[in-house]
Amino acid sequence: MVEKSQLVSDEIALPALYSSVRQHSLQICESLEAEDFSCQPELYVSPPKWHLAHTTWFFEKFVLEKVLKNYQPYDPSFAYLFNSYYETAGDHLPRNKRGALTRPTIDAIREYRRYVDEQMETMERGWMDDDVRQLIITGLNHEQQHQELLLMDIKFILGTNPLYPSCLAGLCLNEMSAVPQRLPSITIDEGIYLIGHGTKEFAFDNESPRHRVHLDAFGLESDLVTNGEYLDFILDNGYKRVDLWLSDGWQWVNESRIRAPLYWHFVDGIWCCYDFDGLRPVDVNLPVMHVSQYEANAFARWKGMRLPTEFEWEAASPFIEWGTAWEHTASAYLPYPGYQRPEGTIGEYNAKFMSNQMVLRGASIATPPGHQRLTYRNFFTPDMRWQFSGIRLAKTL
Ligand SMILES: [Fe+2]
Repeated sequence: MVEKSQLVSDEIALPALYSSVRQHSLQICESLEAEDFSCQPELYVSPPKWHLAHTTWFFEKFVLEKVLKNYQPYDPSFAYLFNSYYETAGDHLPRNKRGALTRPTIDAIREYRRYVDEQMETMERGWMDDDVRQLIITGLNHEQQHQELLLMDIKFILGTNPLYPSCLAGLCLNEMSAVPQRLPSITIDEGIYLIGHGTKEFAFDNESPRHRVHLDAFGLESDLVTNGEYLDFILDNGYKRVDLWLSDGWQWVNESRIRAPLYWHFVDGIWCCYDFDGLRPVDVNLPVMHVSQYEANAFARWKGMRLPTEFEWEAASPFIEWGTAWEHTASAYLPYPGYQRPEGTIGEYNAKFMSNQMVLRGASIATPPGHQRLTYRNFFTPDMRWQFSGIRLAKTL
C-alpha cells in the first residue's frame, strides 16, 4: 500500500514509487473472483481487468514507445483494446464493448503488466531526463486515478448484484468515521483568493494557472451531510417536490425512478445500503454517499442553503476536514483563465472534457493515500453517483 508520505512527486525515488503504485492496483483486485474481472453492468462502468490493462497501455504509449527506440509492444492488438479515449493515438474499442473482452484473460493481463513493468524498471535504472521523469509521474498519477475508478466499479459490479456479495478484505479503502457532533460552521471573509496549483509538486493541467478570484463572504458547514439528515429529506417527500429540483434533475429523478441514494434499498421497513460488506441498515451518523449533483442541489435547497462553488471550497479548504467523500460543487468544469491545452495526445487527458460536467472537490475513502490535493478538480456529469460523492452545504451571508 502506498503510504501517505509517498506523494507521487519528483522528490521520491521513482523505481520504488513505480513498483509501489503498480502493486497497489493488483492489491485492490486481490479478493475478486475471475467472473468479476470482465463485468460491465453499465456503459460508464469498466471491467476491473480493463483498468489493469489500460493503465499498463498508458505506460507503453506515453513512456516506453517515446523513450525506447525499437520498443516492442507486448501485443500490438492491445493498443486497440486498451486505449480509452485518445483519438490521436488511433482507433479504440468503443467504451460500451469493454465487457465483451472475455479474452485476453485476467492471467494474460497480469502477464502484460509484468512485461511492461520489467521494461519500465530496466529503463528507470538508466539515466532519465526531466521530461521522461515527468511522463512516468503522470503515468503513476493516472494509475492512481484508476485505482479509485476500480473501487467505484467493483462496488457497482457487486452492489448491483442481487446477492450483494461481501468483498471488503484487501480493498484498500480508507476508514470512514461518523460525522462528529455538529461543529460550528466556518465563515470566510470577503476578499481576493488565490485559486489553483502553485507549487513544484505534480498536479494535473486542469488545476492551473493559479489565478485570483474575488469572493463575497460566505458560510460553509464544517461537517458533511449525514445519512440521517438525508433520510429526513426522503421522509419529507424530497424526491417528489418539484420546487426543490432543477429542471434536468426533476426529469432525471422521474425518468430513472430515483427515490434514494445509489445502493439504498427499502427492506422490510428499513432503509439498507450496500457497502462492500453486504446489505446493512443505513447508519444515520455516517456521511451520505453516492448522491448525484442533482440530488445534492435539491437537498441543499430543501435545507434553505446551497452548494459551494469550487472557488469557495478551495478558499475554505484549509479549515475543513475532508477525505471521506468527493464534495459536489455548484461549479461547471471549465478551464481556468489562461489555460493552455498541452500539445499532443496527452492534451486529450483533461481538456476535451470541459463541457457539460460539474466539479467535485476533496477526496474520498477510495482515493489512494498521497493522491489528494486541495486544488484537485474531479468532474462528472450531474446525474452520476457511482463515485464516492457526498454533500457539504454553504450559505450566502
Ligand atoms: Fe485512463
